[in-house]
Amino acid sequence: MNTIRAIIFDLDGVICFTDQYHYQAWKEMADAEGIYFDETINGRLRGVSRMESLDIILEKASREYTQEEKEQLAARKNESYVRLLEKMSPDDLSQEVKKTLEILRQRGYKLAIGSSSKNTKKILTQIGLNGYFDAISDGTNITKSKPDPEVFLRAAEFLGEKPEDCYVVEDAYAGIDAAKSAGMQAVGIGIAAGYAAADVKIQSFGELLTLGA
Ligand code: BG6
Ligand code: MG
Repeated sequence: MNTIRAIIFDLDGVICFTDQYHYQAWKEMADAEGIYFDETINGRLRGVSRMESLDIILEKASREYTQEEKEQLAARKNESYVRLLEKMSPDDLSQEVKKTLEILRQRGYKLAIGSSSKNTKKILTQIGLNGYFDAISDGTNITKSKPDPEVFLRAAEFLGEKPEDCYVVEDAYAGIDAAKSAGMQAVGIGIAAGYAAADVKIQSFGELLTLGA
């Protein structure tokens, strides 16, 4: 653990909370299509890419959708989602997260984002963290989504660090699996604090300061 040089943070559900906005935007799309969708199904979308999320939602659809239709639905959802993101501001970054990041940085750790979201930069800008991280690996630079390790391996590469020297902080089971396949130490928070595959489980973001991290 003492060799840890970098910490890669998932964004949604770790640094800030966008679940509700994803839910509202998907719900709007699902209602318009007459597809059943609820918070439980929304929970299955955690950490999953936009198109894979849509496939999960379409499991409840009464007909098949063509690739072109799927792309239109995903685009429509994203338009609503981005509109909702406009409501986010630096107030959506908790003091606990802000302070903890500052202290980790003072302790010399490199800090990165490893997120499946193609809206990562937009969200970071909204909450006042644009330019804050040493590297950003997100939905715009990967071909395979979590649980594939690609997003975290790219983050380590951008930082110039070896995977075994990185911690990943994740709230999604798929993200913990991705971190483990990347050969990194996985810290589970939120729902993922109940996941056996996580190497370390924390109840609050501030606990990162007690990890020897
Ligand atoms: C992840 C979220 O961070 O990003 C998922 O946990 C979401 O729920 C995924 O589907 C993709 O997001 P976006 O912003 O590219 O549609
Ligand atoms: Mg997440």
